[in-house]
Amino acid sequence: MIEIAPSILSADFSRLAAHAKQAIEGGATLLHVDVMDGHFVPNITIGPPVVASLRKAVDVVLDCHLMIENPDEYITAFADAGADWISVHQEACIHLHRTLQLIKSKGLKAGVVINPATPIGTLTEVLEMVDFVLVMSVNPGFGGQKFIPGALEKLRKLAAVRSALHQDFKLEVDGGITQNNIAEVVRAGGEIIVTGSGIFGTGDPKTNTERLLKAANEATLAKV
Ligand code: DX5
Ligand code: ZN
Repeated sequence: MIEIAPSILSADFSRLAAHAKQAIEGGATLLHVDVMDGHFVPNITIGPPVVASLRKAVDVVLDCHLMIENPDEYITAFADAGADWISVHQEACIHLHRTLQLIKSKGLKAGVVINPATPIGTLTEVLEMVDFVLVMSVNPGFGGQKFIPGALEKLRKLAAVRSALHQDFKLEVDGGITQNNIAEVVRAGGEIIVTGSGIFGTGDPKTNTERLLKAANEATLAKV
């Protein structure tokens, strides 16, 4: 099953709950929360208080993508705020195994993220412990960037490794995904599709989500 994870980064923060609910009405089953610290990435966004407010407003999975240095120092705060999934960047974690263990110890789903320049081989030793792998299809930091096609090959390779190793982590993909390329992303193996400007940019979030989900599901059917 393909799931759409709207990135609230492109939502109107003054109407965050309303915007999020519209996307959920359109079929979104997760909300993707982009956390940026101005150090790991050149932008600053939101932290645990916003996650806590969203938690009160919506009933879907809160998928927190931490683009921050020293994520270990903040994982408890995000867990307490109501995060369901937490992902951390391979590039930001000196002790990646320990960080993933910490997320799991909170009873949350743990994910590892790789930037466009990071090969999938850097994940070999942690694949058996993650619930999902997030492949960045833009350099993290901003919404509305252009999709980097190398992500497609990474998805294909990760899907092959997963089946060879009999593992069951999910494949999430993030950045530059629109109505024009979502089918290609799904055919390459993307299962949780993050999209921000494609949902909250122009038009209404409900219709945009419905359209993206429809295109994604049609691509899945074409795959079998
Ligand atoms: C980029 C973020 C993405 C981004 C996606 O650093 O991780 O989640 O907001 O936005 P679009 O879909 O506009 O590329
Ligand atoms: Zn993200």
